Amino acid sequence: MQKIEIEKAKILRGVVFIPSDKSISHRAVMISALAEGRTCIKNFLRSQDCLWTLKAFKDLGIKYSLEDSMLEVEGGGIYGLRQPADKIFVGNSGTTIRLILGILAGQNFKLTLEGDDSLNKRPMKRIIEPLREMGAQIQAKEDDFPPLVVQGASLKPVLYHQKIASAQVKSSILLAGLYAKGTTKVYEKLKTRDHTERMLKLFSADIQIRGLEISISSSHKLISPSEIDIPSDFSSAAFFIAAATLVPGSQIIIKNVGVNPTRLGFLNSLVTMGAQVKKVNERQLSNEPRADLVIEFRRPLKGINIDEKDIPSMIDELPIMMVVATQAEGETFIKGAGELRVKETDRINSMVLGLRKMGADIRPQEDDILIKGPTPLKSATLDSVGDHRTAMSLSIAALIAKGKSVIRNTECIQTSFPDFYATLKKVLLK
Ligand code: S3P
Repeated sequence: MQKIEIEKAKILRGVVFIPSDKSISHRAVMISALAEGRTCIKNFLRSQDCLWTLKAFKDLGIKYSLEDSMLEVEGGGIYGLRQPADKIFVGNSGTTIRLILGILAGQNFKLTLEGDDSLNKRPMKRIIEPLREMGAQIQAKEDDFPPLVVQGASLKPVLYHQKIASAQVKSSILLAGLYAKGTTKVYEKLKTRDHTERMLKLFSADIQIRGLEISISSSHKLISPSEIDIPSDFSSAAFFIAAATLVPGSQIIIKNVGVNPTRLGFLNSLVTMGAQVKKVNERQLSNEPRADLVIEFRRPLKGINIDEKDIPSMIDELPIMMVVATQAEGETFIKGAGELRVKETDRINSMVLGLRKMGADIRPQEDDILIKGPTPLKSATLDSVGDHRTAMSLSIAALIAKGKSVIRNTECIQTSFPDFYATLKKVLLK
């Protein structure tokens, strides 16, 4: 078991380079594999989750070369996958299993998808139901959990009204829509990250977006744009944005961060709380907006209400938002965050447990969370419970806690941000 010791930080200064976007890296592999032609993917995220996606497509017969963060994928067309010899293992990656299921539903072979112990406990009914409506043949443990056995079938289009706001569910249906004869429509409950839609457009798919309605028509050809450039992951940048906002005297610049509006709930909420985060040098590449972010320490911060409708745009940043809220004056109320309970761990529990040990006033109320601040945090021995975002959020909390904290079980950080501690060390002044 890996553990890390973190002392109270003096100041953060300098320029930070954050690893590439995880959501976009997964999609880049999947959609390039289904396209005609070779795609050169610049800044592919070499984290454990994305490497599972790459391995899955290798098992499905796709050829690629990977040197540093430059990935070249030889697409085989939408029917270019072949049946693997064995089942496909996808580790801890929810995005891999849910999105790939949509693709496999339309093939003409059978296979089994399996995850690690944590992934095998995460709900899949949310994708199995709509895919079955399309004609997919899927079996699951208790009709909900991996391993998933999928027998490819001829798919028909659906009009699907989402019950939960989930980009993974939406993406899975849209990818299956490539195989359904006619037009598949997904009506989102709330706007979720739109990387799949943007990338499918980049590959010339027949996809239309009208507010919460997304239509895709079966396409027998996705055409490679030859090159895709992936920005840094806003969700990984969020830990550094929070650190610079909270550690007195700090000022950092984070380069080339993805600023897709469907991902910016945390940034917008922080600014409402009084934080100083500026976007500069905004530009667009590979159909994804990006910018450099300039962050300065700011006090006082004030508590805010985060409404259910804002949750999807900051779903992965809610753990670090809980840390920030402990330092804001008054109450921060996060409403309708139940989806946090079905992430890599129950992130409401893991964060409440950790932050309470540090002295924070944080109370879960079913799917809502109430945090009162500001509370001086004290050092503690903390546990990630195997969840990468809990590990990194508690590490940032440790930067403002008196004394030396210990974070246990930090291997999970490999999932999204393998060099997290080395990157942090570079901007921490002694
Ligand atoms: C993701 C969507 C979100 C997010 C996850 C990545 C994606 O999950 O929490 O980390 O890449 O589509 P849900 O779709 O389950 O909300």
